Amino acid sequence: ATTLGASAAQTGRYYGAAVAAGRLGDATYTGILNREFNSVTAENEMKWDATEPAQGRFTYANGDRILNQGIAMGAKVRGHALLWHQQQPGWARSMSGAALRNAAINHVTQVATHYRGRIHSWDVVNEAFADGGSGARRDSNLQRTGNDWIEAAFRAARAADPGAKLCYNDYNTDGVNAKSTGIYNMVRDFKARGVPIDCVGFQSHLGTGISGDYQANLQRFADLGVDVQITELDVAQGGNQANIYATVTRACLAVARCTGITVWGIRDSDSWRTGENPLLFDNSGNRKAAYNSVLSAL
Ligand code: XIL
Repeated sequence: ATTLGASAAQTGRYYGAAVAAGRLGDATYTGILNREFNSVTAENEMKWDATEPAQGRFTYANGDRILNQGIAMGAKVRGHALLWHQQQPGWARSMSGAALRNAAINHVTQVATHYRGRIHSWDVVNEAFADGGSGARRDSNLQRTGNDWIEAAFRAARAADPGAKLCYNDYNTDGVNAKSTGIYNMVRDFKARGVPIDCVGFQSHLGTGISGDYQANLQRFADLGVDVQITELDVAQGGNQANIYATVTRACLAVARCTGITVWGIRDSDSWRTGENPLLFDNSGNRKAAYNSVLSAL
């Protein structure tokens, strides 16, 4: 096939992009999106600060724009993200204890209910583990409400939208390391205790190298009985960019339960990693070497 989405579909997978509602009026951007991708993720528009700017007042206009773009394309829509320590509205940032826990679970219930039946996979909890060698949870206002906040969020999401796959999503998990092992142990525990979890997202914000056990790490999670997805892929520009993109693509294809790949933007000029040129299309929307390398690997 001649596009990323159609090529991924040949093995039952999707190839997606993070989309910004504010760019949908850009014809070059939307042209590439419509042509190449069969999954979309809202880059910011479904986050807590965007969807509940004041407590109990929900705003879905921009999230719905992304959803409707995805529906119009016949694409899968990934929901990102119900709970995260970043991009919380100010009112939540200043809360704690039971009040915060209740507000957080209400947020999960309300947003997942609004999008019920439309979301392929939700990132229910994003980035809850610490970097470094501890393998422990990250300190945050949410973590301080009690270690069970993650499973409470997954149970609330399942009740609100039983059809969505529920994912835990994180970064610096691109190989077997202390952080990914901490997450692995949580997922194993959730599966053993019947906490509803269906998938693990590997953001894969990569530099100029990739861990030799990237695929083995995906496989060990899949072996726990969850799907795995590459959820926010971007790779620093450098001599290895095309090769690293190919390595990630081949790793996903080699893991039966790796169901799709999402790149975190379309053109380099759309990327949050300003100046790193980490995406598949250049600023003018032309295919880069990394694009050709992904297409031939799919
Ligand atoms: C980023 C967006 O790309 C930026 O536009 C925003 O300013 C900050 O967030 N991990 C995630 C994503 O889970 O939500 C982040 O997205 C990138 C890191």
